[in-house]
Amino acid sequence: MITGCTPGGIGHSLALEFHSHGYRVFATARSPSTISSLAALGIETLALELHDPQTVKSLQSQILSLTRGRGLDILINNAGRNNTMPALDMDMDEVQKTFDVNVFGLMRMCQVFGPMIVQTKGIIVMIGSVAAVTPYVFGSSYNASKAAVHAYSDTLRLVSDFVADSKNAGIAVLRLSGNAGA
Ligand SMILES: NC(=O)c1ccc[n+]([C@@H]2O[C@H](COP(=O)([O-])OP(=O)(O)OC[C@H]3O[C@@H](n4cnc5c(N)ncnc54)[C@H](OP(=O)(O)O)[C@@H]3O)[C@@H](O)[C@H]2O)c1
Repeated sequence: MITGCTPGGIGHSLALEFHSHGYRVFATARSPSTISSLAALGIETLALELHDPQTVKSLQSQILSLTRGRGLDILINNAGRNNTMPALDMDMDEVQKTFDVNVFGLMRMCQVFGPMIVQTKGIIVMIGSVAAVTPYVFGSSYNASKAAVHAYSDTLRLVSDFVADSKNAGIAVLRLSGNAGA
C-alpha cells in the first residue's frame, strides 16, 4: 500500500513501478477520482485523508476485507505536505496541518496497519527528506516535521519500540530521504 499517489508525485511513480513488477498495489489519494488512471491499469485505489482518523480506520476496514486478513507486505508512507514560510510569519494552523499529515498521520498509519505488517514480517517504508538534516531556508516547519519522521523511523527500527513482543515482530523499517542520491 502506498499513500499519496496523485499524478506527478513520487507515490504515483512507485505505484506504477510496483504494478509493473507484478505486485498487487493499493494506492491511496485524498480523492480516488484523481488516480483513475491507476485504477484503469488494475491498481486498487482507495481514499485517505491523513489528518482525519476516521478515513484511516475506514481504510483499515477496506484493506482487511480486500486482503481477507492475510496482512500487508509493504506499507509506503509517502503522502506529505510542504509549508514554506519564514518562521516569524508562519500561520500556526498551517504548521499544525503539516505535522498532522507528515508526522501524526504517518504515526497513525504505522499504528493502525502495523499488525498487518507484523503478520507478514513485512516492510514499512517512510519517505523522509534530506531537509531533515540539511534544512532549506523558510522551511522550518517542514524541515522539523521531516526530522520528526526520521527520529520516529529510526526508533521503530529498534523493533522493540514498535511492538512489546519484539521476538515476533520481524519487520523492517526503511527510511528514504526522498531526494535522488540522498
Ligand atoms: N519531491 C521532492 O523533491 C521530495 C524531497 C524530499 C521528500 N519528499 C517527500 O516525498 C513525499 C512525496 O512528495 P512529492 O514530491 O511526490 O509531492 P506530491 O506530488 O505533492 O505528493 C504528496 C502526496 O501526499 C498527498 N497528501 C497531502 N496531504 C494529504 C493528506 N492530508 N492526506 C492524504 N494525502 C495527502 C498529496 O495529495 P494531493 O495531491 O491531493 O494534495 C499527494 O498525493 C512527501 O512525503 C515529501 O515530503 C519529496
